[in-house]
Parts: sequence; structure tokens; C-alpha cells
Amino acid sequence: MSKANDIKVKELKPVFTPEQIAARIQELAAEINAEYGDEPMVAVCVLKGGFMFFSDLVRFLHNKNLELDFVRLSSYGKGSSSSKHVIFSKDVEIDICGKHVLIVEDIVDSGHSMRFLLGQFAARKARSLRLAALVDKDERREVDVKVDFAGFKLNQGFIVGYGLDYAEHYRMLPGVFEVIPE
Ligand code: HPA
Ligand code: MG
Repeated sequence: MSKANDIKVKELKPVFTPEQIAARIQELAAEINAEYGDEPMVAVCVLKGGFMFFSDLVRFLHNKNLELDFVRLSSYGKGSSSSKHVIFSKDVEIDICGKHVLIVEDIVDSGHSMRFLLGQFAARKARSLRLAALVDKDERREVDVKVDFAGFKLNQGFIVGYGLDYAEHYRMLPGVFEVIPE
């Protein structure tokens, strides 16, 4: 996120409560459980933002052949949210070849980082590739990336909490809030 330090926060306005998030995660987990059964599968958390959604989601996945792994991505270029140069700053450690892969992200916005990750995992011959995101800002897409399991759709406002940050702050909040600037 660019220029985060320039903006003073006046207020955090509640958007999704912990109860709403927990209820939606139950629904998503049921969909995911129905989709994969016990087929070999890797759930991949996109750090840092995905950590809370991932940990709450995976505890309700019943796949007996589920493995967990983590990636962290960095993007370079001017205007960080829409920059197009993405690299791994941490790659998965598990071989995903022939396995179903479920990427678990906090928010999908322009789609650039997910396009990079989907491209990388496709080249490694994942058996299938799907994307779960707590929040899908689908109207802000700059590249063609589809969220298969979306917690919530939201296109307005800058949100924090439940893993989402504003200049590394607020990730620990149990709910999602909109940042209201001064
Ligand atoms: N909050 C945090 N990170 C983000 C957002 C947001 O609203 N949009 C894209 N990255
Ligand atoms: Mg993020």
C-alpha cells in the first residue's frame, strides 16, 4: 500500500464483525469440503494478510489428505497496489505437482499478485488451482483473476483488521473495519 504513513486515521468503522466472519467461514468450508473430498490437496496461505482467515478456515476443512503451506509475495514498481512486478519473497516448500491447490488470500484487488501466483502454480502442474479470499474487490480488477470462494464482496473503502493491514497496523483486530481518514 502506498502513502499509508501520510494519512491519519480518524476512526475505524465496523464492516464485518467476528461473528459474521465466523459464520461465512462455515459456509465457505462446507463448499470447499464438498468440492475436494479427500483428494490430495495443498492449502496455501498468502502471508502476511491471509494468516487469520487461513487459520480459521483450515480448522474446518475435513480433507484427510490436506497439506498446508505458506507463501509471501513482494511487488515492485511505482504505486504499489497496482504494480505489475511480483516475486516470491517466500515460496512453498511442498511439491504441489498433481495436487489440488487452494490459495487463501486476505483480499483480491487489482489481481496482479494472484495472477503471478496462479501462473507459477500452473507451471508446476497443480492438478487444479482455486482461489479463496476473505474479501473480493472485484470491480477493481486490472487483470482477469477470478475468486472461486469469496467471503465477502466489497468495492468501497480501505479496510483493515482480521489480517488486513494499514502500514502493518491493525492486522490483529478480530473484525474488519473501514479506515476513515481525518
Ligand atoms: N485493505 C488492505 N489492503 C488492501 C486493501 C484494503 O482495503 N485493498 C487492497 N489491499
Ligand atoms: Mg495483502
